Amino acid sequence: MLTEVTATRYITPLREGGSLPGLVEADDLGTYVLKFSGAGQGRKTLVAEVVCGELARRLGLRVPRLVTVELDPVLGLGEPQQEVQQLLKSSGGTNLGMDFLSGALGFDPLAFEVGPEEAGRIVWFDALVNNVDRSWRNPNMLRHGGELWLIDHGATMIWHHNWPGAAASAARPYDASDHALRTFAPDIASAAAALAPRVTEELLAEVTAEIPDVWLAGEPGFDTPDDLRAAYARPLAARAATVHQHIHGLEGDR
Ligand SMILES: Nc1ncnc2c1ncn2[C@@H]1O[C@H](COP(=O)(O)OP(=O)(O)OP(=O)(O)O)[C@@H](O)[C@H]1O
Ligand SMILES: [Mg+2]
Repeated sequence: MLTEVTATRYITPLREGGSLPGLVEADDLGTYVLKFSGAGQGRKTLVAEVVCGELARRLGLRVPRLVTVELDPVLGLGEPQQEVQQLLKSSGGTNLGMDFLSGALGFDPLAFEVGPEEAGRIVWFDALVNNVDRSWRNPNMLRHGGELWLIDHGATMIWHHNWPGAAASAARPYDASDHALRTFAPDIASAAAALAPRVTEELLAEVTAEIPDVWLAGEPGFDTPDDLRAAYARPLAARAATVHQHIHGLEGDR
């Protein structure tokens, strides 16, 4: 289970994010980036953040700590911006929080060097979860303390939008031609050799156990949250061993 905190104050919207994530203070005195359950993209975005964030972390990639944030919609009453007030009102209950990396800079491929090994691990991971949101236009990586941190895994695992077609969808290749790390000579072979054996059923069970039940309940075709957890694990288990052979768009940079 992710640590659960309760929001005590809404600080400000993070203007950059398409889903209007906000900064909140919580009862543990921490400051968190809040992803709202009531945002347009819905609960699946939050599930994707948890599955990918917790999997990446267990594979040794840097991801800010994730928590669940209980939100009382009354926090929105004093909020002057109507868009924000609406989000707060429609997001009562369990939301996703991420440690706010104070002073972090957006990743700039021209200003920050990434080694082939680290680049390989990140591209391999993005291929595994089919992340289409790590482009040079919108890298969704931060620089903090001299290191690279991964954020924003909401646009991954496209197969979870159509479960009956999930196996076929997960069998498709990954297009890395737009990837922000494409020009850093990502060493995919080393990454696959090191990481694929670690994506075991046990690890995936541990990762999917972190998803709060409330974001899984009521999915058509699934009787219980645990059935849906198993469905999240399956395509990842199937992809892990061979996805490195199905990454397109890196050729020519090697
Ligand atoms: N943990 C964090 N620490 C510091 N800044 C953050 C953190 N998470 C997000 N940000 C900042 O907020 C911005 C928006 O966050 P994020 O990309 O997760 O939101 P989003 O709504 O999914 O974005 P988009 O759809 O525009 O990619 C990031 O680009 C970054 O500048
Ligand atoms: Mg983003």
